[in-house]
Amino acid sequence: MRQVLVLNGPNLGRLGSREPDVYGAQTFDDLAVLCRETGRELGLSVEVRQTDDEAELVSWIHEAADSRTPVVLNPAAFTHYSYALRDAIAQRTAPLVEVHISNPNAREEFRHTSVVAAVATGTIAGFGMRSYELALRAIADMGE
Ligand code: DQA
Repeated sequence: MRQVLVLNGPNLGRLGSREPDVYGAQTFDDLAVLCRETGRELGLSVEVRQTDDEAELVSWIHEAADSRTPVVLNPAAFTHYSYALRDAIAQRTAPLVEVHISNPNAREEFRHTSVVAAVATGTIAGFGMRSYELALRAIADMGE
């Protein structure tokens, strides 16, 4: 079965209690279940991880590049300023879909810049947790 990594950056472990008006009431565990179940439906083996640590997230992107594993990535706040993360993603050897729960372009100005978008395969934002489901479907359809 094809492996897919679903990687999440800082503060996403606090979904459910974090700004529910922006990110909804579902928890990170709910998100992990949604991703694994969507994967099962699509014939993908999905592993979901979250970290608040930039170095750890960069090391997971390296791991995905070395193993040619497709990635669904919500870089969270790192989206807007982490050149280290961008440089890691530039080494990718399989599709990588940037996802966001909210629509950063409809929010504060600093969220309008993504330093990772140009090295991702594509971006899905603004559909709540469905953004992850759509990204997994895109990866399944690409069949790489
Ligand atoms: C986010 C949007 C980012 O601007 C923010 O820093 C996050 C979450 C989203 O999923 O909507 O932490 O990536």
